[in-house]
Amino acid sequence: MRHSYLPFLLSRIRSSTSLTPTAGTLRSRSSSRLYSSSGYLSTLSSSTPLSSPASAADATAFDGKFTSFQSYSNAISSSSLPGVKQRHPVRPFPLTPKKTIAGWPDIVPPPYGETGIPPNHDDTILIFSEDQNLANMRHAAKLARQVLDHACSVAKPGVTTDEVDTAVHEALLNAGAYPSPLNYVGFPKSLCSSINEVICHGIPDTRPLEFGDIVSFDVSCFINGVHGDNCATIVVGDEQEMDEIGTDWRDVPYLGSKFFDGRPEEDEARIRSARRLVHATRESVYEAINCIGPGSCLTDVGAAIQDVADSYGYSTVEKYRGHGIGADFHRPPFVKHYRNYDKLELVPGMVFTIEPMLVEGAGDCFEWSDKWTVATSDGGMAAQFEHTILIKEDGVEILTVP
Ligand code: MF3
Ligand code: CO
Repeated sequence: MRHSYLPFLLSRIRSSTSLTPTAGTLRSRSSSRLYSSSGYLSTLSSSTPLSSPASAADATAFDGKFTSFQSYSNAISSSSLPGVKQRHPVRPFPLTPKKTIAGWPDIVPPPYGETGIPPNHDDTILIFSEDQNLANMRHAAKLARQVLDHACSVAKPGVTTDEVDTAVHEALLNAGAYPSPLNYVGFPKSLCSSINEVICHGIPDTRPLEFGDIVSFDVSCFINGVHGDNCATIVVGDEQEMDEIGTDWRDVPYLGSKFFDGRPEEDEARIRSARRLVHATRESVYEAINCIGPGSCLTDVGAAIQDVADSYGYSTVEKYRGHGIGADFHRPPFVKHYRNYDKLELVPGMVFTIEPMLVEGAGDCFEWSDKWTVATSDGGMAAQFEHTILIKEDGVEILTVP
């Protein structure tokens, strides 16, 4: 199982309404494990077995073969979603050779770097204190964000996701970091890139990006013994990413309808609906962050995201979850992005990701035969944003800031 945040894990969170560090709590060194004598903090069962990394690894040779030949035709022909029939479904393109960190002796890979097998994480929720280890988390997260911003700026019509992967790989290595996805359970690239109806875990390949594609880039890195993880979605060729009040997260001035002057009507319709999905998804992650803090409940995250998705008429994907992060890429707590009953009190020092995936149609997904790429079953577009956050005494700190 490549993802420790797959569904069955979180379903094992047991109720813990009043979860505070008690006399039974042990804090050692930095990211101390938080134990409770009553056991209510050790909320997750033991970790999941790992699947063989072979399938994804085997698909990495640049031998002119596609990673998979999964056809969407059934999904597309039965889809009643607007725009789906007009689009060509995303298909796998050839992969370039797998990159390594050879020639970078100073880069320390995570434990799975060589083998592809992440060590089992324990079931505890870590509580970070203000020390060097948390400083390392801030550094890893900030770097992940800077490289994510770089990836977004490199992505233009005609550029392949493989080229974006190369940019990410090189930027991380130059900064002294290992790209967390590389060989994680055999993942063949340094970046996840997920286009249009692909929801997450897309493998960068030689498909050129097209005007109007919705593409999410998920950048994560390992440096000084810890991971940082974040994701953003852009509309390819759009000159702005704005919200309705003209706030622009990429520093591009609000262009109003000028952008559409002289463009075909289909392009305008396509960009406008893509913007709306991307906007809603970004709103959902910030809404979740804004409504939590010390003393609030993990369930607040999913409720906030689902409220935003509902208000736009989108679905939130249930199968993939946010996760605790630190020396382990994925560990408890696992964070559902939909209304749920995972009662866990959020306390200062907890670090986890929130990474909602919103889709136009239903939230059902399927995996390509490359065993990584996850797409919507009905061909609807998908978007994702992710931050790594820290619960503090006085609120929430977003660690993935530039
Ligand atoms: N942010 C993604 C996650 O938490 C990164 C996945 S990397 C992959 O799962 F290698 F697992 F794909
Ligand atoms: Co993540």
